[in-house]
Amino acid sequence: MKRLGVNIDHIATLRNARGESHPDPVLAANYVISKGADSVTIHLREDRRHIRDIDAKKICSLKNILVNLEISINSKIVNYALKIKPTYVCIVPEKRKEVTTEGGLNLEDNFNKLKNVIIKFKKKNIRTSLFINPSIKDVKISKQLDVDCIEIHTGKISNLVKSNKNFSKEFNRIKKCAQFAKAYGIEVHAGHGLDYKTTKILKKINEIVEFNIGHFIIGESVFDGMSKIIKNFKKILKS
Ligand code: PXP
Repeated sequence: MKRLGVNIDHIATLRNARGESHPDPVLAANYVISKGADSVTIHLREDRRHIRDIDAKKICSLKNILVNLEISINSKIVNYALKIKPTYVCIVPEKRKEVTTEGGLNLEDNFNKLKNVIIKFKKKNIRTSLFINPSIKDVKISKQLDVDCIEIHTGKISNLVKSNKNFSKEFNRIKKCAQFAKAYGIEVHAGHGLDYKTTKILKKINEIVEFNIGHFIIGESVFDGMSKIIKNFKKILKS
């Protein structure tokens, strides 16, 4: 069965909007696992716009929870990640002003830095992954970097599907990369912009074994969860 990693960054976004402690991403990490998620993904951004150092530290210290920490190659973040020891690390590109991670890493420009970072995490037995665009060239470079996994950026196919455009070329590109990577012994993951429809499409690619999904899960939970909360308040107000 394919694994589901739930990205809980936006629980922290919601908490930070009020500057208080609710909803707590640490409780959310336990909650998503108790509801069947295989792992928890958090992104410790350089501007700390959602997950903060203390959240990441507490989440990484939770018992029996597989934590996938997304980080850039910023040396301070890398050192902090090495200290708090997540189960997995996924290296992502990061621009301060972007709303979300817009594309995969530039592996060629950052080859030496990435190599050093991967070695550091491997020495600590932390599974390494690179967030890449669906390009065979990037899969080949990932092999040279000796990374354990790649996560294919699915933002483009997600946008095509959502706008009812032809996505077959992008689908085939992702499939080819996934097959290439698997043949190289690299584990393949997918993430970004996924919803029910795009996940159903991409799960047809056998080589993809893990999906990391955030925004849609948190957004859709509003609709799937609100009825219970409204009922609770109506009960309180009635008595
Ligand atoms: N995977 C990676 C590497 C990410 O950086 C993100 C967040 O951009 C996700 C998965 C989750 O994306 P989304 O929130 O769009 O589901």
